[in-house]
This record gives sequence, C-alpha cells and structure tokens, in this order.
Amino acid sequence: MKDPTDQEISTARLAVNDDEKIRESYEPLRVLGQGGMGRVILARHRFLGHLVAIKKLIIPETGPDSRSCSRFLNEAKAAKRLKHPNVVQLHEFGIDTQGSPYAVMDYIEGEPLSSLLQREETLSAVRAAALCKQVAEGLAHAHEQGVVHRDIKPSNIIVQRAGAEERAVIVDFGIAKLITAAEQELSKTGEILGSPLYFSPEQALGQQTGPGSDIYSLGCMIFECIHGTPPFVSDSAVQTAMMHVNAKTPIATDASGKAKTPIDQVIERCMQKAPEDRYANAAILASDLNAIQLGKTLTDTLLYTSKTRQEFNDRRIPDNFQTKDSSTRIALV
Ligand SMILES: Nc1ncnc2c1ncn2[C@@H]1O[C@H](COP(=O)(O)OP(=O)(O)O)[C@@H](O)[C@H]1O
Ligand SMILES: [Mg+2]
Repeated sequence: MKDPTDQEISTARLAVNDDEKIRESYEPLRVLGQGGMGRVILARHRFLGHLVAIKKLIIPETGPDSRSCSRFLNEAKAAKRLKHPNVVQLHEFGIDTQGSPYAVMDYIEGEPLSSLLQREETLSAVRAAALCKQVAEGLAHAHEQGVVHRDIKPSNIIVQRAGAEERAVIVDFGIAKLITAAEQELSKTGEILGSPLYFSPEQALGQQTGPGSDIYSLGCMIFECIHGTPPFVSDSAVQTAMMHVNAKTPIATDASGKAKTPIDQVIERCMQKAPEDRYANAAILASDLNAIQLGKTLTDTLLYTSKTRQEFNDRRIPDNFQTKDSSTRIALV
C-alpha cells in the first residue's frame, strides 16, 4: 500500500484548519447509516439551513490506519470528479483534529433500495427499469470521468420520491477505482473489496476491474429487483463469489436458450462472464432499460443473442477451480 503523498498530507493538514469551520457551520442531527468503515451523519448548515450528509471514517482506538484513510481520500477524489443527477454530489473533504477524514455531500432524502426491496420484495419490470436506468446513467457519467464504482448494490442506491416519480442516486464511492496510474496502487493489495452477492467474475478472481464490472453488478441488482433475491446466494462468501465465475444465471430461457422476458434479456446481457460480452457501455444499457420502461421492444442490435449462452453451457469448468491468488481476502462490505 502506497503511503499518502506529501501533497495529500499537506492537503489533509489544511483541512484540519477547515474542520473547525465545518463544525462551526454544521449542526449534526442524526446518524443516517453506518457501515464497516464509516458513519454517515445528517447535519444542517447553521446559517443557510440546508441539509447535508457528512460521512466520517471511524478511527479505531489504535489510531487512524493509513490504508482506510487513503481509501477514504480516494472515495472523495472519485466523487469530486462527478456531477450528475444520479450521483451524490460531494462538497467538501477534510481530516478532523482526531485524524479522521470526513466528506460533506448532498443529503439525499429517501430510502436505500435495499430497504425498499426488503419491504416490497420485488418490483415490476417497468419500475425496476425506470430506477436502474438512472443508475446506468449515473454510471455512464462516472465511467466517462474515469471512475469505476466497484460496489454497486441496493444499499448504495438511494431512492428519492418526487411525486409519482422516483429518482435513484448512487452513493458510496468507498472502493471506487480512478483510472489513473497512481490509483492502480490501491488495487495491488491482494484484497477483494465489495459484496460477493454483486461481484463481477473478475472481481471474484481478484483480476482487473473496469466499467464492465459495474455493468455486471448492476445486472445482479436488476435481477434482485425482479426476482426478489440476488442471482447467486450460498452459505459462504467464497462460494458465492465463485458462483459468479462458474454458475449459469438462474433465469428462465426458451428452447433456443434466450431469456424469455425483455428485462431478463437485459440482465443476461449485463451478467455475461466475459466483460466483452456485456453491454459495451452503461449508456447502451440505459437505453435498453428506457425501452423497457416505455414498453418498447429492445432493438435487435442491442439484444443478447443466445450464442454466448450456448458457448457458456458447452464450456467445461474444472471441479477444482480456485482463485488465482490463494492469499486473496474477501472483505464483506
Ligand atoms: N448522501 C447521503 N444522503 C442520505 N443518506 C446517505 C447518504 N450517503 C449515505 N447515506 C446512507 O448511509 C448508508 C451508508 O453510507 P455509505 O456511503 O454506503 O457507507 P458505507 O461505506 O458504510 O457503506 C447508505 O446506505 C445510506 O443509507
Ligand atoms: Mg455502502
């Protein structure tokens, strides 16, 4: 793991001074969410009155650990590059007097898709397409800016209601990859981050991830919206991860091997094992989801042909299949 650069440290020192200003400016209201590494707090600007979400890294008693701090800084750098209605907007970043980094972002008033799904179990194809199209549009923007999210899952999508409409906003760029030379360092730690339920096969194998990995994970999320459960679930994280590599996507197909419904065809296209067989980019995926939302048929050029599925069915997977690097750790986030 690369140590923070002098410039990053001096930025952090500057931010400590800013921190007093931030605490003077914001009144904390409540905790919005708590994950493995951080806590998200709802706060109100003391003078302007608007609400913000402040994400803070939880510092262990042993003191701040440089890897988590770098990852948090990475998250802020990734989010800072992005400006899109379906991506949470970052405003400020700093390190407080205890050495804990924080990020101030727009507060998205809504409900995480994970809790919406817990309550409603499944969504109609039209509603799922309407929501996931927005996620695909947010991802298309991120990918254009060289940011790969790498942790697309229902708890990282906030659904905001605006009358009859629903808006989906992507949060948590905690393990995002910035496609720059310096950033490659973070992925050299032999650690697999993300949730195995939504892992792309390349993530499961600890291989290079790219925009196609987000498209795969979004495919898993669309699957969950439609079928009420993620596509691959098993007792152990490693086994679940390996199912993404080896197992067939459990959707109903016709005699030719083609998924029966348009939304399942989209899922299948997203969840191809090889990134090059998936949608070429998130914008094309968004346009297919848009077609489903509007009740239009998917255009033939965008449709998944049964060829790759047949090839997959014919492929023999070794029984002793293992990850490339046996020291690889899987972190359940
Ligand atoms: N900008 C935001 N506005 C409203 N709620 C948020 C915001 N960011 C995060 N949350 C809530 O906090 C939870 C955890 O935030 P997240 O960034 O995903 O952190 P973690 O890295 O701990 O998963 C989210 O699932 C969501 O419920
Ligand atoms: Mg999260």
